[in-house]
Amino acid sequence: LTADTYPTLVRDARYKKLGEEDIAFFRGILSEQEILQAGEGEDLALYNEDWMRKYRGQSKLVLRPKSTQQVAAIIRYCNEQRLAVVPQGGNTGLVGGSVPVFDEIVLSLAQLNKVRDFDPVSGILKCDAGVILENADSYLMERGYLFPLDLGAKGSCHVGGLVATNAGGLRLLRYGSLHGSVLGLEVVLPNGEVLNSMDALRKDNTGFDLKQLFIGSEGTIGVITGVSILCPPRPTAFNVCFLALENYARVQEVFIKAKKELGEILSAFEFMDFNSQYIAGQHLKGVAHPFSEKYPFYVLIETAGSNKEHDDLKLEQFLEGAMEEGLVSDGALAQGETEVRNLWQWREMIPEASASEGGVYKYDVSLPLKDMHSLVDAVNERLTAQNLSDTEDASKPVVCALGYGHFGDGNLHLNVAVREYTKQVEAALEPFVYEFVASKHGSISAEHGLGFQKKNYISYSKSPQEIKMIKDIKHHYDPNAILNPYKYV
Ligand code: FAD
Ligand code: MLT
Ligand code: ZN
Repeated sequence: LTADTYPTLVRDARYKKLGEEDIAFFRGILSEQEILQAGEGEDLALYNEDWMRKYRGQSKLVLRPKSTQQVAAIIRYCNEQRLAVVPQGGNTGLVGGSVPVFDEIVLSLAQLNKVRDFDPVSGILKCDAGVILENADSYLMERGYLFPLDLGAKGSCHVGGLVATNAGGLRLLRYGSLHGSVLGLEVVLPNGEVLNSMDALRKDNTGFDLKQLFIGSEGTIGVITGVSILCPPRPTAFNVCFLALENYARVQEVFIKAKKELGEILSAFEFMDFNSQYIAGQHLKGVAHPFSEKYPFYVLIETAGSNKEHDDLKLEQFLEGAMEEGLVSDGALAQGETEVRNLWQWREMIPEASASEGGVYKYDVSLPLKDMHSLVDAVNERLTAQNLSDTEDASKPVVCALGYGHFGDGNLHLNVAVREYTKQVEAALEPFVYEFVASKHGSISAEHGLGFQKKNYISYSKSPQEIKMIKDIKHHYDPNAILNPYKYV
């Protein structure tokens, strides 16, 4: 989808169009390798197009600064000149927030990628915003620590991008949200000033906790250049089991039991429906699923602790009990690292698999646990009734709707795998999905944010008063609206 796919959206005439004098200014503060210009032998598609290949902007310029001072100089100039800017991390965001809509300048944080400091006593890591999550975690692993967040895009997404989206991921259940683990930030404000709370302490009740404003702000009120985050010791004993369940009520019962009996070692409780495993199976052709029979629901439970014998015993007793009580229809327990990875792939591969048939409409919602899967059922029924969906018939635009997610956090990922993006499918899904979620008092974005995709739907989850406060804050700090325009605020 490009800007011209949205006839109601027009380029805001307040923004200056990039001129030779602007390029000359950027050449004065950045080296040649740090400036990528369209038409100068550079293909900017990687920066203009999002991970889903759903949104495509038309930026002609990508800037890749290496220091906070350079970021500040760029932003100050863009503010003075009214040049619009999209901050970009690993470009793995799933709501079209990380790519330009028209000709905004892309400010890539990829070269701001150094670890600044690590304190092995407190576990506090300080790093540049552009450090890739996997690199941050490997650095911590060598020191016996763990990054308190993990997700499928770890090989590409940045620590700064995670903070900007307030990503949740696979272990929020255990380590909590970034609103708790991020201690301080370094942020370049829209006027070019640098706000620095990198030396923040674990406890500090002196006034507003300003960093919270930027956690989940999606690049709309500042460019994050540094992150200070509290990291837990790395568990040394891991177990994973994969369970098959005969209905949705069982998923809820197994969750209650897991919380009660696995207690402090429970580190993930992910759920997947049949369609999600069907789609993953299509993608992982040749790899055997943990179960040869079909089941409507599956659950992946991970434990992480420091005493393998103790954890093994706890998990075995939990599984035996679940089988005896008839909660579980079948189960697979991983023995060793390879098996652990093999089981995880049936969960982690779903996002990639669901996009591989042509495209995917993604809805990342919070719902009361009892209502969670009814949204997937309702969407499947609707798509079938409108004759839009068939897993076998390639003439239909939709393959199927599938559900999976971070059950322990009340977070459902409803994905609609499509053979092509069409207005008809979009009209069948939106605002239907948002209305459904609002009717259950859920949230239309649990962890991916609003970005461009949900910019017109914020009122399904926020009151007019809250929306006004969000706009007031944006206007106060970014009066010229240079940061990430056309997005949710
Ligand atoms: P980008 O995609 O580049 O940017 C995301 C947003 O943040 C944009 O609005 C951008 O303008 C802004 N931004 C980026 N960097 C900065 C910065 N330094 N300063 C200010 N603003 C900035 N999310 C989850 O919550 N949980 C998951 O389990 C999860 N799994 C995923 C699995 C896959 C395979 C993929 C592709 C994505 C997944 N995501 C998940 C989406 C998630 O939002 C991103 O992976 C991550 O949070 C974005 O990081 P990024 O560096 O790629 O940011
Ligand atoms: C996940 O949990 O896998 C992610 O949030 C990504 C997605 O839903 O595509
Ligand atoms: Zn997720």
